[in-house]
Amino acid sequence: MVSTVPTPTDTHLANVRLEIRNLQAQLVLWRRKLHQNPELGFKEHQTATFITQKLTEWGIPHETGIAQTGIVAMIPGDKPGKVLGIRADMDALPIQEENDVPYRSQNDGVMHACGHDGHTAIALGTAYYLWQQRDRLAGTVKIIFQPAEEGPGGAKPMIEAGVLQNPAVDAMIGLHLWNNLPVGTLGVRSGPLMAAVECFRCTLLGKGGHGAMPHQTTDAVLVGSQVVNALQTVVARNVDPLDSAVVTVGTFHAGTALNVIADTAHISGTVRYFNPKLEGFIQQRIEAIIAGVCASHGASYDLDYWQLYPATVNDGEMAALVQSVASEVIETPLGVVPECQTMGGEDMSFFLREVPGCYFFLGAANGAKQLDFPHHHPRFDFDESVLCVGVEMFARCVERFCS
Ligand code: NI
Repeated sequence: MVSTVPTPTDTHLANVRLEIRNLQAQLVLWRRKLHQNPELGFKEHQTATFITQKLTEWGIPHETGIAQTGIVAMIPGDKPGKVLGIRADMDALPIQEENDVPYRSQNDGVMHACGHDGHTAIALGTAYYLWQQRDRLAGTVKIIFQPAEEGPGGAKPMIEAGVLQNPAVDAMIGLHLWNNLPVGTLGVRSGPLMAAVECFRCTLLGKGGHGAMPHQTTDAVLVGSQVVNALQTVVARNVDPLDSAVVTVGTFHAGTALNVIADTAHISGTVRYFNPKLEGFIQQRIEAIIAGVCASHGASYDLDYWQLYPATVNDGEMAALVQSVASEVIETPLGVVPECQTMGGEDMSFFLREVPGCYFFLGAANGAKQLDFPHHHPRFDFDESVLCVGVEMFARCVERFCS
């Protein structure tokens, strides 16, 4: 799949870089406009209008309203060839921004706290650049702007709507600006990059009563406590220690008064893992433990368990292509970080289940400028100097794949 074109000359690389660096001021303006107008998943109407206006202005063919607010821009090259998909997510989060910057969110309680404003700006810049260069392009690039990455997920409905067809996409790439890595680095690996995400909610049903007469009750707080403890044995004692997995109970609500034994307890949590063999297995263990603990106390339960996103798994050849391009684009001494992995999840995973591809992390933190708050933090922001690096990465990957 990786083409065997000779390595471009240094002059060519320098020219590509210069042309893309010239877009940097525009990229910052677009990113800031998107940052000021954040919208939640499937409600990215203004965002979609902004993207559509730009594509129309430049004359780039595109389709709108896919899976509600999604957009696909098409860049057919002058010569026939393979089809590469580039994916950008465009949704924000229900967070009140605490940054005091001129481009802070104008939409109360909604914030681009994960960098998807940057992803959209990078994808727009890539569309603009490739469109100018289409006489050199062999093949077609599809730029996919998808809604609702933060949940419930826009990738799956976009695929169901046929974005990977007509023409059929041969491979996909995508990036996430990443504050877990410093600016001037890029993280990528072959195989699983991000974890599968599963979720559960459980109501434990006991029998309430007087705090001084526990023998007349089935204490839901006690049952819940034992369930929480026992669930930690799934990773510690059931999963192969060479496979990474997480079981987190994030909420536990029960009881109303200090002298009343609660009749119900509500817990909820999330499960993460890389190895697809664990699909279904952890769920089974969790249910068996809840059923067993409840049975031993005479309690009952109601369990709701669902898979949100599968693991994000990179194809070996596509990861090698990205790695090779990155080694030319990222020239700082920190460079390309190998074996980068996180237990966070991503619905890019659905695209990578359909076609081979590679998702990678573009380091975006800059501690010296206080731009290193974690993703989903009310003070999240990133070093905008990476925007043109993102475009250069995409443009160079296209050049390598479609030639
Ligand atoms: Ni994100």
